[in-house]
Amino acid sequence: MKIASAEFVKSAFERSHWTDDGLPEIAFLGRSNVGKSSLLNSLLQRKGLARTSNTPGRTQSINFFLVNGSFYFVDLPGYGFARVSKTMRSDWGKMAEDYLSERENLALCIQLVDSRHDPTQLDLQLYEWLMHRETPYLVVATKADKLSNNQFAKQLQIIKAKMPGPEVIGFSAVSGKGREALWSEIESALKS
Ligand code: GTP
Ligand code: MG
Repeated sequence: MKIASAEFVKSAFERSHWTDDGLPEIAFLGRSNVGKSSLLNSLLQRKGLARTSNTPGRTQSINFFLVNGSFYFVDLPGYGFARVSKTMRSDWGKMAEDYLSERENLALCIQLVDSRHDPTQLDLQLYEWLMHRETPYLVVATKADKLSNNQFAKQLQIIKAKMPGPEVIGFSAVSGKGREALWSEIESALKS
């Protein structure tokens, strides 16, 4: 896709802040530090558009980015940082859960998992939950550049085995690996 424009629109801390123009939305989900904001910047080829950080939990609001004036990328808060003993609901905030369960203009959910590690308990919980929803859903294995091709292929198999069903795309915000494949999934979700 050609990116003619990409702009940060707003950070929502409560429901009344969600956009209300009805444009389709692509949501990015995953644990803190998995690379959501980096992936978004890489897809849009705008370096500092979504804030990235080494400090997990950087993105705490729901952030809306308008692309080509026709759809939104939605960067959701990361889950699972230092709160692993609680349930997904209290861990991750009611806000993200409300958004995911109620948002009607959600065209595609993209769950990110770190390709270097096996999916966590919370990753699997979110996977189960998204599998039971009607919204199209796919998984992205991030930070592929941190593994050798062999190691990466092995990890991809583990992720696919633990999270069967959705398409799994390998990605690196550093090398650009997976960018084209992911865009083509996003484009077809926007068309349907
Ligand atoms: P929160 O907003 O805290 O939930 O994190 P996030 O999921 O948005 O992660 P973010 O994009 O901020 O990235 C976290 C860290 O991982 C940063 O230091 C990034 O530079 C690094 N990172 C993200 N993607 C990649 C990647 O593909 N390769 C490498 N090598 N590092 C990455
Ligand atoms: Mg972030």
